Amino acid sequence: MTTVSSALSSAELQQAARDHLWLHFTRMGGSGDGEVPIIVRGEGCYLEDSNGKRYLDALAGLFAVQIGYSYGDEIGEAAAAQMRELPFYTNWSYAHPRAIELAAEVASLAPGDLNRVFFVSGGSEAVESAWKLARQYYSARGQHRAVAASIPSHPQAPGHDFDAEQAARLAGERRWKAISRHVAYHGTTMGALSINGIPALRAPFEPLVPEVSHVRNTNRYHRPQQETEAEFTQFLLDDLRQTIEATGPETVAMVIMEPVQNAGGAFTPPEGYWAGVRAICDEYEILLCADEVITGFGRLGAWFGSERYDIRPDLVTCAKGLSSAYASIGAVIATDRVMEPFLQGDRMYTHGVTFGGHPVAAAIALKNLEIMRRERIVEHVAEEQDTVRETLAQLLELPIVGDLRGTGFFYAIELVKDKETRQTFSDEECERLLRGFLTPRMFEAGLICRADDRGDPVIQISPPLIAGQAEWDELVGILGTVLEEAWQRI
Ligand SMILES: Cc1ncc(COP(=O)(O)O)c(C=O)c1O
Repeated sequence: MTTVSSALSSAELQQAARDHLWLHFTRMGGSGDGEVPIIVRGEGCYLEDSNGKRYLDALAGLFAVQIGYSYGDEIGEAAAAQMRELPFYTNWSYAHPRAIELAAEVASLAPGDLNRVFFVSGGSEAVESAWKLARQYYSARGQHRAVAASIPSHPQAPGHDFDAEQAARLAGERRWKAISRHVAYHGTTMGALSINGIPALRAPFEPLVPEVSHVRNTNRYHRPQQETEAEFTQFLLDDLRQTIEATGPETVAMVIMEPVQNAGGAFTPPEGYWAGVRAICDEYEILLCADEVITGFGRLGAWFGSERYDIRPDLVTCAKGLSSAYASIGAVIATDRVMEPFLQGDRMYTHGVTFGGHPVAAAIALKNLEIMRRERIVEHVAEEQDTVRETLAQLLELPIVGDLRGTGFFYAIELVKDKETRQTFSDEECERLLRGFLTPRMFEAGLICRADDRGDPVIQISPPLIAGQAEWDELVGILGTVLEEAWQRI
């Protein structure tokens, strides 16, 4: 096996990192004195740092490395072969075999008639592209309907003679607003950021892209305890309907939600929720986009969360697991209905990015999906998920653990000050508990998990989808010890 080693010594790497590398979402002032964590290699579910210390990666990179870290040789060969054949060509007007094959493969895995795949470089770009696509869909559809209305014999004509006024109104149809959920994360580019429901991420960049409204998410932990699941579903759907009405239904292009919401801590949908959301979107003719950047490609024990919950979205955004993050590639998947107006006349979706469908990234994604099928990775998640929940449920015995949420290989535990009253921590306590203690202590103990307080404080657990019982036991063992220590400190 050939290895790539740095020309710099460990100390030189540290210095160069401190001097030149700007880490994402990181308080850079803090890295002046402490060591920058430098990860040098990976194997299975484990990572190793520049000091030779091993970590269990309970976050799969960033909810991304479905197949773990050991397929570099096989995927590398596919990438090298593509490099030799065609290192780059674009999807602007042109196609190439890997983009075509990957689009066909993704369409075959996606549920229903989600048949059309538009490639981008990552999740934020996918969300950005979905919103733009939804906006352009209505004007394209309006033009399409206007043409139909002007031709009495047209199958879609409303059954009366040419109505110039109606045709003009349809031709001018425009919708632009988006609706998403509170505390949801959808990426960082301006459009995707505007869709986010996390005030702390939005505030530094305001004013953002108008106009996004936020609705309630499916966090049930802090709802009244006597509320039934059916009442909770109705409460959420009423809120969605009222928000659409208040926003102006004829101006709303897209409702965008994750099948299971990550930020805030793995909020699963209550019974009947997705059927209700779909029905409301149909009633107001709003496109429903499932943001599957995390849930796509197996995390919930199905290829897509949309399949698992029968969401029937018009659009799906995906990235991460598409290539197991071995390459930077994402996509928007659209149904035949969304595609239809773009197939008429000289119309086009006025959008593109140079690297969308990059042949090497596409070759890597194809190989990743081949490995996932061959190794039955999605089936593994589906088969193991009940045992995984039982294993994680041991953490509920700790006084600091209030709730365990999630499904598949996608979980969060919510930390509370008082289990009886479900009282949460103040901002200052969160700062001390999460940033001051839990994050560094878990890392020190050899576990990479994320302590997150974008909503109430949670620990997110989302290992590679190849994780077996040994990894889950190790994870619970380390986390349990660290959380006990945290409780002692409180
Ligand atoms: C649901 C969701 N959408 C979009 C994004 C943005 O993806 P990226 O970081 O690839 O831009 C993320 C990233 O975590 C995400 O979780």
